[in-house]
Amino acid sequence: MNYTTTSAEQTQKIAADLAKTLKGGEFISLIGDLGAGKTTFTRGLVEALGGTVRVKSPTFTVMNEYPVNAGNIKRVVHIDFYRFTDPAELEALSLEDERRPDTIILAEWPDALPTVTWKSDIEIYFKHLGDDKREILI
Ligand SMILES: Nc1ncnc2c1ncn2[C@@H]1O[C@H](COP(=O)(O)OP(=O)(O)OP(=O)(O)O)[C@@H](O)[C@H]1O
Ligand SMILES: [Mg+2]
Repeated sequence: MNYTTTSAEQTQKIAADLAKTLKGGEFISLIGDLGAGKTTFTRGLVEALGGTVRVKSPTFTVMNEYPVNAGNIKRVVHIDFYRFTDPAELEALSLEDERRPDTIILAEWPDALPTVTWKSDIEIYFKHLGDDKREILI
């Protein structure tokens, strides 16, 4: 699906629509430019799943975890690989343990992941079209 949004709220609405289709255990890749809306989208998704903690960019913490409550989905893990260069750092995360049926994982800049073992279930592409305009391809 291809969308054009003109506000952060609209992008979050698209995230909320996607949230309704999730079953739990999905790994979602968020691909696109700086400031294109990947973290904003994640914020909308967490809110739609009943999370009450405001999503912040995990750039300096690598990974943030948010409790949510939507059927059997109890947790959202938000990872930002932007500053990730060391594969040892990736192993230290033991990401494999994070992949659970009660968890949705969203990863910004997932290029750091070995795609063989980390096939995303959903890929979302974000494009900055200037001002508040963004193109979102799910
Ligand atoms: N249509 C829109 N959709 C999403 N965000 C928008 C839109 N219009 C304006 N914005 C603003 O653009 C910024 C997007 O920042 P955000 O942190 O979500 O981007 P990002 O893709 O996660 O960037 P980074 O790669 O640096 O982590 C926010 O300040 C948001 O309010
Ligand atoms: Mg971000």
